[in-house]
Amino acid sequence: LENGLARTPPMGWMHWERYRCITDCKNYPNECISENLFKRTTDLLVSEGYAAAGYEYVIIDDCWLEKSRDNVTNKLVEDRYRFPSGLNHLADYIHNSGLKFGLYQDYGTHTCAGYPGVINHMALDAQTFAEWDVDYVKLDGCYADTATMDAGYPEFGRLLNKTGRPMIYSCSWPVYQEYEGKIPDYEALKQHCNLWRNYDDIDDSFESVAKIMDYFSKNQDRIQPHGGPGHWNDPDMLILGNYGLSYDQSKLQMAVWAILAAPLIMSNDLATVRPEIKAILQNRDVIAVNQDPLGIQGRRILIQKNIEVWARPIMPRNAAGYVFY
Ligand code: GLA
Ligand code: GLA
Repeated sequence: LENGLARTPPMGWMHWERYRCITDCKNYPNECISENLFKRTTDLLVSEGYAAAGYEYVIIDDCWLEKSRDNVTNKLVEDRYRFPSGLNHLADYIHNSGLKFGLYQDYGTHTCAGYPGVINHMALDAQTFAEWDVDYVKLDGCYADTATMDAGYPEFGRLLNKTGRPMIYSCSWPVYQEYEGKIPDYEALKQHCNLWRNYDDIDDSFESVAKIMDYFSKNQDRIQPHGGPGHWNDPDMLILGNYGLSYDQSKLQMAVWAILAAPLIMSNDLATVRPEIKAILQNRDVIAVNQDPLGIQGRRILIQKNIEVWARPIMPRNAAGYVFY
């Protein structure tokens, strides 16, 4: 999507893989999806050096809404118990820390976790997102008719654009088509979305990382050519810093995601990431490969027994690592 945004893959943090849909703040005060979690994470992104390394978007995934819309205005309402100061306050908090604010919604009648989706209220919701000072929108595709997505996702994108507020637009449209055995229309995705989820949700295991790597490499002939500045394939979140990956497996995910020109969106508890894992997440050279200005997605170039070689072209650099323009 040529809206001037996401010229390199977006970097940031999103709650889903680590925190899922924990809404019980009484029993899980530190884990529940709440204003508190996002403020703490914002603070840690800055104080632990992630912001300086390029991690910028603080993204709320599913489970932030009340179960129904406002019954007078039909507007979306954030869970008032968990977000007591409102989303404008949270957006200000994130912006005042020099970071950007992302928010999840769903193209269908309901989000995947059962909260109200945008269908029948697309213009109103696009406007509400702009009023909340959102900088990044993830539009999921549960409880929706996949046949209408080719028209509906571009329509929501046009409505976002019409608000005049620049917002990165992340689409889950192709993954739902893949599930039905349809080949996504990559030209349409490039035109209408800044990034898109191609495949399954990641979970906290090496098996999950390996399965995603397998999908992206087996299908690389049809996927790889479409990544580029303003329009990226998205293999889902970085799970480094959680429980599932060893030190070496953590390096592997980071390296492959850099080669794939993938969005680097962590999902972890930044307060408990061990120093050696934090060093991988903040490795300037690996991040420079991910953020290379040419934006050419890499590929698996060799597989032999259980050895794989992955590669991607990047801009020529001098010995100090500076790009030659
Ligand atoms: C969750 C719900 C809120 C409220 C609290 C009570 O956070 O989303 O609406 O009911 O639980 O603990
Ligand atoms: C889907 C998405 C996930 C996450 C959940 C939230 O499964 O693919 O990334 O947003 O919904 O319910």
